[in-house]
Amino acid sequence: MRVAAFVSGRGSNMIALAEACAEAGFPADMALVFSNVPDAGGLERASSLGIATAALSHRDFGKDREAHERGIDKIMHEHEIDLICLAGYMRLLTPWFVETWRDRMINIHPSLLPAFKGLETHERVLAEGAKWHGCSVHFVRPAMDEGPIVAQAAVPVAADDDADTLAARVLTAEHQLYPHALRLVASGAVRVEGERVVAQGSTLPEIAYNPPLKE
Ligand code: GAR
Repeated sequence: MRVAAFVSGRGSNMIALAEACAEAGFPADMALVFSNVPDAGGLERASSLGIATAALSHRDFGKDREAHERGIDKIMHEHEIDLICLAGYMRLLTPWFVETWRDRMINIHPSLLPAFKGLETHERVLAEGAKWHGCSVHFVRPAMDEGPIVAQAAVPVAADDDADTLAARVLTAEHQLYPHALRLVASGAVRVEGERVVAQGSTLPEIAYNPPLKE
């Protein structure tokens, strides 16, 4: 399976996916890293790993979001992409693009969905006094941070956490969860059925995934 990772910034999740893809027997190849931000750090990191990169700035398309995304879709076809992994892609996609890539596009979000959709999840978790936080990988649907959940990882909230320490703990979990979720999807171990992700075949893959906490 040929995968494209979409990044808007530093791309640490993209790197975690690329490293997993480079392992022998992993069921996906990182064929392309795409960004809407031509100077995103993630593009440079991908190039240094020998991965093809492409950028198309949304700024060149004014208010015409769909024209930007038709350009992106063309790039995906040129690189024969089968699956898109949004990895810190900080731009909402139009229903047209989401439907074009329905069940072929996954996203990582830094919360235990459906709680804490949107931005600044760590700050809001702390403000609510939640005791557990985490991250989710889900298939993308037109509504923001919605869609069938592939896998989740939970981390505890420490009494003395601030947003930065909590974000770092979640990010460590993200780097373990996203390759795990990509393996489930790319290997065909799970698929979407009735807006839920279900396991295929007789062996039940680990869908709820609690990574060992490495800090
Ligand atoms: C990650 O924490 C990811 O979950 C989050 O942005 C960060 C990107 O970091 N994504 C979202 O908030 C999407 N709504 P990275 O560029 O180092 O992977």
